[in-house]
Parts: sequence; structure tokens; C-alpha cells
Amino acid sequence: MQEDFSRITSFINSFNKDDEGYLGEIYENAIKDNVPVIRREARELLKVLIMMKKPSRILEIGTAVGYSSLYMAKYGSCNLRIDTIELDEDRADIAERNIERLGMHGTINVIRGDANIKLKELKGPYDLIFVDAAKGQYVNYYEEVIRLTESGGVILSDNVLAGGDILESHFLVTKRDRTIHDRMRDYLYTIKNDTRLETAIISLGDGMAISVRK
Ligand SMILES: C[S@@+](CC[C@H](N)C(=O)[O-])C[C@H]1O[C@@H](n2cnc3c(N)ncnc32)[C@H](O)[C@@H]1O
Repeated sequence: MQEDFSRITSFINSFNKDDEGYLGEIYENAIKDNVPVIRREARELLKVLIMMKKPSRILEIGTAVGYSSLYMAKYGSCNLRIDTIELDEDRADIAERNIERLGMHGTINVIRGDANIKLKELKGPYDLIFVDAAKGQYVNYYEEVIRLTESGGVILSDNVLAGGDILESHFLVTKRDRTIHDRMRDYLYTIKNDTRLETAIISLGDGMAISVRK
């Protein structure tokens, strides 16, 4: 089954084109350096969503080296502003250099620090919030993410199926990953049962959930 899924993913990706120029280099370097950037098949969904929704304000939780912010900026409208939060100082430094090099410093604002604290300092509403930080913490960010969106706002959560591990029972997951596993299940339960949202869970990439604020 896992093998079938990976064949389907390879098939999907055979249609997806690589980024050109410096954005492509950022992606390749991130993969080489084991920075967990958005998967190729998932970024296509992100692109289409951005082009459909045409957000003017995006919040991203988890900048890494700035790849997904730059990708969203590339396909977003000219009035787009992105705030993106990153805990790791070294990654935030690289992200700012990448953003500068692509001339996007007027569009993308890197907020350094822990999203658990920084989210409380932000003022909404954001048209789209991309949740892509520590999987075990999505439940902690949740109420702030809700506060920062209003009716029609989209919340896109990445990595929600944890490479398929989410299907396994608590005891079949390695001890190290059990907390993340349980918290991600809580998160999925929450976004599917919260009457303030409509959510679709999609088996794409590492699993994505698209929620719309009612
Ligand atoms: C999956 S990566 C983000 C990838 C990026 N969105 C992309 O696709 O190019 C997750 C990032 O979240 C950061 N992170 C983890 N916990 C965080 C927290 N509590 N606050 C802010 N950033 C956090 C990690 O340091 C890591 O760089």
C-alpha cells in the first residue's frame, strides 16, 4: 500500500515542474541540507489555493529557510503581505538572506521566535494561515489561529498524516513519536468537529488539511 502511494506520488510529480532560478536553488539546497520544506506535490496545491483565494494577508507558522513564503509570494497578488514565524535563529537568518536576494523583503516579514508566544502578539485577520511548524504543537497554536481568521479565511495545515503513521495505533508508533501521534489525532479531531470550520483532509504529500472559517 505504502509502495502504491509512493508510485502515485512519483507519477503526480512527473507532471510537476521544478522552480526556475534562485527559488529552485533554495529548494534544492534545502533538500540537500535536510531542511523539511513543503513537498513538491503539496506545493502545487498551495499554488492553486493562493491563485484561487488571492489573499492579501498570509500568516505562515514555520518559515524554515523561506522557501514556501517565497513560493506563495511568487503566485500571490501584488498587494500580498506575508508574516512568517520561525523559532530557529540560523534558519531565520538564511530565510532573510533568501528573501533579500529575491527582492521580497517588502512582501515577506520574518518574525523570529516561538509561535506559541508570537501568535498572541499578532493582529488579524489573515486571509490564509499556513500551519507548517512542529507537528505536536498544532493543537497549541489552534485557538490563536482561529482568533486570527474571520469568515471565509482559510487554514492550511501541512503534515497532518505524518507519513501515514497517523493510521497506526498509539502502541505501534515508536515511543519517541507517540506524543506527536496523539496530538496530531487530537488536532484532526478538533478541526473536523469544530463548528466554526469546514475541513477537508487530503492524502497528499505528508497529508494536508484545508479548513475554511464559517
Ligand atoms: C516543516 S518546516 C517549515 C517549512 C517551510 N514552511 C517550507 O515549506 O519552506 C518547520 C519549521 O518550523 C519551525 N518551528 C518549529 N516549532 C516552532 C515554533 N514553536 N515556533 C516557530 N517555528 C517553529 C522549525 O524550526 C522549522 O524550521
